[in-house]
Amino acid sequence: MKHFLEIRTMEIEQIQAVLARAQYYQQHEENVATVLKGKFVANLFFEPSTRTRFSFEVAERRLGAEVLNFTEASSSRTKGETIYDTIRTLEAMGVDAAVIRLTDNQLLNEFQHQLNVSLINAGAGDREHPTQALLDVLTMQEHFGSVAGLTVGIVGDIAHSRVAGSHMHLLPRLGAKLLFAGADGMVERTEDPIPEGIECVTVDEIVAQADVVIMLRVQHERHAQHMHMTVEDYHQQYGLTKARAAQMKRNAVIMHPAPVNRGVEINSELVESEQSLILRQVTNGVYVRMAVLDTLLGGNNG
Ligand code: CP
Repeated sequence: MKHFLEIRTMEIEQIQAVLARAQYYQQHEENVATVLKGKFVANLFFEPSTRTRFSFEVAERRLGAEVLNFTEASSSRTKGETIYDTIRTLEAMGVDAAVIRLTDNQLLNEFQHQLNVSLINAGAGDREHPTQALLDVLTMQEHFGSVAGLTVGIVGDIAHSRVAGSHMHLLPRLGAKLLFAGADGMVERTEDPIPEGIECVTVDEIVAQADVVIMLRVQHERHAQHMHMTVEDYHQQYGLTKARAAQMKRNAVIMHPAPVNRGVEINSELVESEQSLILRQVTNGVYVRMAVLDTLLGGNNG
């Protein structure tokens, strides 16, 4: 594998190999500091991020890479340089991999034919967030033993969610049943349609049926218009309230890619409740990103 761009174009064997490597790193955090010795990795985030950006940096440092952090506001982007020319410039300096988050859905797919540096998708538009989907799966595997046979419900702004965009090409292939639910106008994905076999149901149906309930933030930054609903109305109609959480199956768990808007899509107390795996997802994100970096640069090209 040269690039790590989208779940939908990966072979199932490649996905399984990255997950297996992530499981390896879950159990072997020691003596890994030479895996990426001499490799230069640049983190280029053209959209805000806390988890993904620092998670990649922790992963890079744990594996012994040289880390370059890019800040758009103090870069030559402010002088009109394109994203392509920015990456091409780093490539010319000998950078081995570029971890990129950006608003455009397709730019990374175009760059893969134009650039030699390894490109890693850290979240592209509303299309895919492949490392997030894999860390979700790693967390489910850790908790339940396997993803096969689970019912996973994703609730919220499916239309604008790159996490949902990756999961709709991942969870069904791993044997999970995937359900979507959300407010009117927040479920249908016009440019990147939901594949057949994924059912769109109500929030209450997901709460009643799912082993894993994944709540999503409303992505206001990707909406053309403001929501015509108060926060409290949204919370009561589509959020994971305490009353809804009480209806979940006995062993069901709550997940969220975060950032969380407490009191909007999820009751604040549920975020750190016993049912919640949200912080475990963050921890597992480092192992998945170590596995991706190792796969592309470290010789573990499973
Ligand atoms: N889940 C996720 O991508 O979070 P950040 O936007 O903080 O990276």
